[in-house]
Amino acid sequence: MAGDSGAFDDLLHEDRRFDPPADFSRDAVAQPEIYTRADRDREAYWADWAAELEWFEPWSTVLEWTPPHAKWFLGGKLNVSHNCLDRHLDGPGRTKPALIWEGEPGDTRTYTYEELHAEVCRFANGLRSLGVGRGDRVTIYLPMIPEAAVAMLACTRIGAIHSVVFGGFSPESLADRNNDASAKVLITADGGWRRGQPIRLKSNADAALERSPTVEKVVVVRRGGTLSDTLGVTMEPGRDVWYHDLLADMPRTCDPESMDAEDTLFILYTSGTTGMPKGVVHTTGGYLTQVAATTKAVFDLKDDDVYWCTADVGWITGHSYIVYGPLANGASVLMYEGAPDTPDQGRFWDICQRYGVTIFYTAPTAIRAFMRWGEQWPAGYDLSALRLLGTVGEPINPEAWMWYHRVIGGERCPIVDTWWQTETGAIMITPLPGVTTTKPGTATRPFPGIEADVLDEKGDPSHAGYLAIMSPWPSMLRTVWGDDQRFRDTYWSKWDGIYFAGDGAKRDDDEYFWILGRVDDVLNVAGHRIGTMEVESALVDHQSVAESAVVGKSHDIKGQAIAAFVTLKDGIEPTDDLMAELRAHVGEKIGAIAKPEMVVFTADLPKTRSGKIMRRLLRDIAEGNAVGDTTTLADPEVVRRLKQKYEEDG
Ligand code: PRX
Repeated sequence: MAGDSGAFDDLLHEDRRFDPPADFSRDAVAQPEIYTRADRDREAYWADWAAELEWFEPWSTVLEWTPPHAKWFLGGKLNVSHNCLDRHLDGPGRTKPALIWEGEPGDTRTYTYEELHAEVCRFANGLRSLGVGRGDRVTIYLPMIPEAAVAMLACTRIGAIHSVVFGGFSPESLADRNNDASAKVLITADGGWRRGQPIRLKSNADAALERSPTVEKVVVVRRGGTLSDTLGVTMEPGRDVWYHDLLADMPRTCDPESMDAEDTLFILYTSGTTGMPKGVVHTTGGYLTQVAATTKAVFDLKDDDVYWCTADVGWITGHSYIVYGPLANGASVLMYEGAPDTPDQGRFWDICQRYGVTIFYTAPTAIRAFMRWGEQWPAGYDLSALRLLGTVGEPINPEAWMWYHRVIGGERCPIVDTWWQTETGAIMITPLPGVTTTKPGTATRPFPGIEADVLDEKGDPSHAGYLAIMSPWPSMLRTVWGDDQRFRDTYWSKWDGIYFAGDGAKRDDDEYFWILGRVDDVLNVAGHRIGTMEVESALVDHQSVAESAVVGKSHDIKGQAIAAFVTLKDGIEPTDDLMAELRAHVGEKIGAIAKPEMVVFTADLPKTRSGKIMRRLLRDIAEGNAVGDTTTLADPEVVRRLKQKYEEDG
């Protein structure tokens, strides 16, 4: 498991400590007493957070826990879009910017809360006119444009369940998700911009729709600008409708559905160890409570903040910390469509300067890219408005943390390293910026009201082992869509009634948590979760491939890169062209993020006598490490030959 890496033992001796600046602590939203309050009565504490939302009907019971199924705020009724929009309309919130959007080519749009509310209501009415109602599934396959947030909120307004699919996924991945959820409607766009190139979403969607029989209607947003003039999409009569046509006559108000706290809010697919990605199910009351609470307390949100989370709405970070958490708090949210190096590597800092960004939340992979591009880029811009920095998605190496602190944070901004997952819905382990002394590389302590521990295989506390969540939390996943057994097997079968997160972790003398990375066959490539099995299936789908094994390999920027070991069918020549073709094939099957960085052809894969591929040895080879114990192999020669070939290929 991950806990055996010597480098991490060194980390635990990290002795640099950073106290929150005194003035930050004094004015911070979260004060030390929230830990005591949560410890005294966890349920009452979460109920206090829930009470900050607006409920149509109050709940009768805070928590019902029948492991592994939790229900929070039973009997309570609320609506998410009402909480994110309507309740900010009385008073100055009405004209406050809710979404400040910038497209990659530099076009901009801003929606005040009043305007966003009207747009969401019009789209909600539009969706209703297409026959979408409570409990129906709607797939959202959009670029990072305001309509992505509008579509999500419009679904929540009418009680439809959204399933956002990252715009970088292939038609096949999109179709799989449409089918698993039996989506009735798909919302997409003609295209979007990424690194100066148009992304042809509608043509991908068309390809997916050929095998998405449940989808009856397709709503297409016109991205606008020069892009839409050139893309020339085809619309299928009776099925496809333009977003602007659909909204043309729709009223600017729409009564929100009164949803039960435990009604499903959304499904989000995420990669696991086996099979097709799992549809993680989140519900309404508990999810909104915890995302709103963590956004406020962890990001120290104040009324005049300009908040920017650089994630894509296609991932959980985009759901919880671009859309629901910040809007539930009435924040001004910046949203950017494109790449950080377009037109040049100063783009993010230019955006921070022009909009006066005060809170900036990004991933370690991005920070490592900024480091490589050089300090001259951020140095060319005024970043003095920044007051708080965040990171998420992978372990942050102390060197990157220190760079972030010094170069971007000007040594004055606290850094919140937030550990959480698609499944947890919201932040779980994190510093509180005005309270916690931070150390580079650790996510520090559980958020108040969260009980985490590090356990060994048997479930006993250990200073090194598996990260575990000991009791239910409001924004926890409720099940896997359509497969409750998989939910039980994946998360609840290791220990009784305790959540297995799939990460290795250690605790140091300050009781801080150090997250070491995944202990299962899930890779984390540039902060994106990819199952090795998915990539292997895509490879063996190619006509030339007999067998494949995929492992992660350390990468300076991406954290991990994908290394694929491939055996070819008899008579097929291993050529460079075939290598390129296989990489492209994976891109077509899953999406560009899953393309292997390297493909190694081999006559055999190392297997045990019972035929199990020994990935541990392949990892050793890919990392260039001394190869571990090979005594259980059917043929130890395979590894020697493979290592030699790998070294020769460079
Ligand atoms: O391995 C952990 C890593 O990302 C995984 C969750 O991935 P995903 O569901 O895609 O959600 C990412 C955004 C919340 C975790 O199992 N991870 C996430 N945050 C951190 C992290 N690893 C170390 N430190 C973090 N702060």
